[in-house]
Amino acid sequence: MANMPDTDVRAAGTADRDLIVRLAFGSMAAQTLRAAVRLRVLELVGDTPRPAAEVAVAVGAERQSMTRLLRALAGLGLLAESESAPDSFSATPAGALLDPGHPDSLTSFVRMFTEPAIVRAWEQLDGSVRTGEIAFDTVFGTDFFSHLGQHPELSAEFNAAMSQAVAETAAALPYAFDFGRFTRVTDVGGGDGTLLAAVLDAHPHLTGVVLDTAQGLAEAPRTLERHGLSDRCSLVAGDFFRAVPEGSDLYLMKSILHDWTDDRAVTILRHCREVLPPGGLVLIVEPVLPEVVDTRAESDVTDGGVTYLSDLNMLVNVGGRERTRRDFEEVCRRAGLSLTSVTPLTEAAPFSLIEAVAD
Ligand SMILES: C[S@@+](CC[C@H](N)C(=O)[O-])C[C@H]1O[C@@H](n2cnc3c(N)ncnc32)[C@H](O)[C@@H]1O
Repeated sequence: MANMPDTDVRAAGTADRDLIVRLAFGSMAAQTLRAAVRLRVLELVGDTPRPAAEVAVAVGAERQSMTRLLRALAGLGLLAESESAPDSFSATPAGALLDPGHPDSLTSFVRMFTEPAIVRAWEQLDGSVRTGEIAFDTVFGTDFFSHLGQHPELSAEFNAAMSQAVAETAAALPYAFDFGRFTRVTDVGGGDGTLLAAVLDAHPHLTGVVLDTAQGLAEAPRTLERHGLSDRCSLVAGDFFRAVPEGSDLYLMKSILHDWTDDRAVTILRHCREVLPPGGLVLIVEPVLPEVVDTRAESDVTDGGVTYLSDLNMLVNVGGRERTRRDFEEVCRRAGLSLTSVTPLTEAAPFSLIEAVAD
């Protein structure tokens, strides 16, 4: 008989098995959310219990299949089935976020992150781990952002997903950082302008610039109009690998560096460094991974493992990575910047504010 290993893996209990089964079913849970969004279920199921049959009729769905979808959503904690009226369902607070009418809706976020354009490269994760190469580019024959450029509807979905994802940071950032000592902020890769609009709303002395590609800026004019900021904020269509517009004393970038390899991240930072005036600052908003993996579910930084999944998402889809403080120090140093502080943005975990100044 073979020797038992020091740690008997067969000591794994039911909870361990359950964990593996739950994780293996993870993509099914994601597709269940996707179906709920595509069928607009949460627009029909609100606070008060609604019979599955009514939802099926409203959607034009097969009744029993709809009941099964609603039960699965209940099993995931997104709906509650009425005890007094079986087959009737109401939304839980989390489920309500799948209603596009909810002020904090995550419908575009769910659509985008369950979209074949994101998911297909994940099927090749083992290949990306073996080679370090970007699976997306092999699967789709082009890089992720060029693919968005070729598919305007997908690009609009991506922009909307980013806008929904940034909402929490947009609510917190204006009050978590001293904007008072700056005059003009450029949001590098600022997308539809949601984040910068929140900063300018809260700090009327500031003017702003959103730099992004033409496709990334597609919704930005409407964001500025909605906030009455068209006169105080300009939009610059450009390429941050070529240049960053001069004239600001604060260069903000959220969820930008993690899209890129270290060399590419250094190029973006170097362009900021080139136009940074004396007293200017680069403010990077990204998760900062601990040096050693922290898997506590309550960890703000790793977000119960989501930040590590985001890291792999960067590996397979864009070739970027999530970084530790040391990694940020290194890319900043190579760009002629010194990292001066890292402050967790606790109201918008897992993000931190990473400040860097010219060397
Ligand atoms: C992950 S999104 C982040 C958007 C926004 N900062 C946020 O946090 O919601 C990355 C952004 O970088 C933009 N981007 C990608 N390549 C770019 C380039 N070469 N020059 C300028 N912007 C670019 C994309 O269009 C997109 O808006």
